[in-house]
Amino acid sequence: MISQGGVKSMLFKNLFIENATEAVDIRVTDGKFEKIAANLEALPGEEVVDCGGKLALPPVIESHVHLDTCLTAGRPRWNMSGTLFEGIQCWEEYKPFLTKQEVKDRVNKAIRMQASNGIQHVRTHVDINDPKLTAMEALLELRDEVKDFMDIQIVAFPQYGILSYPKGKELLEDALKMGADAAGAIPHFEFTREYSVESLNICFDLAQKYNKLIDVHCDEIDDEASRGLETVATRAYETGMRDMVTASHTTAMHSYNNAYVIRLMRILKMSGMNFVANPCVNVHLGGRADTYPKRRSMTRVKELTAEGINVSFGYDDIFDPWNPLGNGNMRDPVFMGLYAGHMLGYDEICNSYKFVTTNAARTLHLGDAYGIKEGNAANFVVFDAKNWYDALNYDVSVLYSYRNGKLVAETKPKETTVHY
Ligand code: FE2
Repeated sequence: MISQGGVKSMLFKNLFIENATEAVDIRVTDGKFEKIAANLEALPGEEVVDCGGKLALPPVIESHVHLDTCLTAGRPRWNMSGTLFEGIQCWEEYKPFLTKQEVKDRVNKAIRMQASNGIQHVRTHVDINDPKLTAMEALLELRDEVKDFMDIQIVAFPQYGILSYPKGKELLEDALKMGADAAGAIPHFEFTREYSVESLNICFDLAQKYNKLIDVHCDEIDDEASRGLETVATRAYETGMRDMVTASHTTAMHSYNNAYVIRLMRILKMSGMNFVANPCVNVHLGGRADTYPKRRSMTRVKELTAEGINVSFGYDDIFDPWNPLGNGNMRDPVFMGLYAGHMLGYDEICNSYKFVTTNAARTLHLGDAYGIKEGNAANFVVFDAKNWYDALNYDVSVLYSYRNGKLVAETKPKETTVHY
């Protein structure tokens, strides 16, 4: 690394950026991408990293996870049926053990697992149906403590409802005043259809009052009559909040009749809003009321994408009562999502990194500051493969994760010898 007059510069050689077929070099100066071009000459004394023709992507993004529940699987007991409802029961039994420090210890571990997999941005939902808002306080403190290597966006998530939980509206407003980045809602879990619509009105009103984003747990149920989404989309359109609004899960859309979806798609496109699918957890938790055939319960990712609507993928749960597996590696939801969504066409595979990078950046509303381009902060990851197809297929390591030109995480690839 050279340092002249306080300016530090590094040269990364021989990288394929996203789906590019020509390799380029990247000069990083003072934590920013200064020059991206083929065959850049090293400056005298400049540190050079030969990347050997590997894939470079902008940082991986986790656009939907519940960090407040992560790493609690098996405590105080395992979810034996694997159902959503036994998961809720397990969580209720864990809640008495919650303290601010206990939450911070678990989340600190989880975000380092995420960082090791190239993640630099996380949107986490945090349960606010807690009169003490313990987890919210913990996450707000952590957001500040880890900001040098991870951006955490916090959604105030009313797990049991805004109107169907005592003082739900007040708790949501308190969480936003404390500093949550986004307002949540859970219309399909409210007691009545009227509460469902009214809870969304409250969510939008509070988001506008405090200038926050919105991310709704929307229709995460196999009930085809669950129609929260049409209200979210209409409010996103009418308020002009548009791409500040995200509908997460929308699994009921899997079960909607096609005639309804054709009508619905119009307002979805007009709204400009984002979607997040959580393939691993929704395939695991969905279809549980079915005999056979059993529904996959993933929202219509292929059709939404074909309409030009932004969709990203989340893990949702990492080793907790609703998902007993998970290490935070976003390769998993991409892999599962492509299979469950009938999206293993060649181009679909090659472009699938966007579900956890550029599309997810739109969901998080990161704007032009995100991406590998001259002038932006030098945030990028290098995979141990020449392209995304191989990176996905062979589940390769993230060799390096750089942020503002500084190394956040590195992994040495495993080496196997077959003796035959
Ligand atoms: Fe969720």
